[in-house]
Amino acid sequence: MNRTDIFDLSDKVIVITGGLGQIGRQFTLELLDRGAKVAIFNRHIPDLAELKERFPIDSDSLAFFTVDIANKSSVIAGLNALVSKWGVPHVLINNAGLDTQPSAPPEVSGPFEDFPEDVWREVMEVNMTGTFFCCQIIGGAMAKLGRGSVINVGSIYGMLSPVQDIYAYKELKTGKPFVKPVAYCASKSGLYNFTRYLATYWGRKGVRVNILTPSGVRRDSQDAEFQANYCQRMPIGRMAEEDEFNGSIVFLASDASRYMTGSNLVVDGGWTAW
Ligand SMILES: NC(=O)c1ccc[n+]([C@@H]2O[C@H](COP(=O)([O-])OP(=O)(O)OC[C@H]3O[C@@H](n4cnc5c(N)ncnc54)[C@H](O)[C@@H]3O)[C@@H](O)[C@H]2O)c1
Repeated sequence: MNRTDIFDLSDKVIVITGGLGQIGRQFTLELLDRGAKVAIFNRHIPDLAELKERFPIDSDSLAFFTVDIANKSSVIAGLNALVSKWGVPHVLINNAGLDTQPSAPPEVSGPFEDFPEDVWREVMEVNMTGTFFCCQIIGGAMAKLGRGSVINVGSIYGMLSPVQDIYAYKELKTGKPFVKPVAYCASKSGLYNFTRYLATYWGRKGVRVNILTPSGVRRDSQDAEFQANYCQRMPIGRMAEEDEFNGSIVFLASDASRYMTGSNLVVDGGWTAW
């Protein structure tokens, strides 16, 4: 008996914003492996040598577009260029985001009361407004055709407040308090109801909208204290590897999730289960 592969993504056109970053690169490689055509929308596209290093593959199914998602005309130009190449996309992954790392300078990681307005605005512009523009323009084009899957990328810090104790070691080391900043958390939390809003708005137009919630990914640049504190709080006992959200992206992008919209898929090693 011939069974259809419900995870099939062959020849699907997928836009992924921030596809050059840590998680986005892994999404891209996985989706290409499954026969999708992947269009990376990134604010900066490096030169060919660096691209080859990041994507050591020779594929006509991978294309790069210089797009600043926080700029509406840039998103429109990116979509127009993509449509002339491959047509209107089937899937939009709103993955680009700005975060503040534990290595952030004191002016953006100090007390909430001193958090700079320009940084607040910049993070909101990318994480919230950028996702809004991509949904409006790219999601809107998909809705006109009556099909599509939009996947927003949230964060455990958009669902829950950060556990500030994890970062307290930094004050002992540097003498300056470190507070995981507010802008990232507030901007990510907005995406949850934005997702539900659009899921109901496009519910009968064939466009599904869901959100994926990852927890922290291990990076070589993180210091040992941060990793140890984070892992101690994490039920599964370790941070995520950068490819551990790929299964969820394939699921949300494909027909395997065809009855799912307005949902939050949490892949967090148990962080939100306490
Ligand atoms: N890495 C983690 O630990 C983690 C945990 C939870 C959630 N997330 C979320 O997952 C997503 C990917 O995270 P990551 O760690 O891979 O990020 P990253 O910082 O490695 O990459 C982000 C990418 O987005 C691009 N970008 C930034 N601003 C942009 C703009 N205005 N227009 C277009 N592109 C822009 C950057 O150039 C970069 O390529 C983000 O939304 C992040 O908030 C990450």
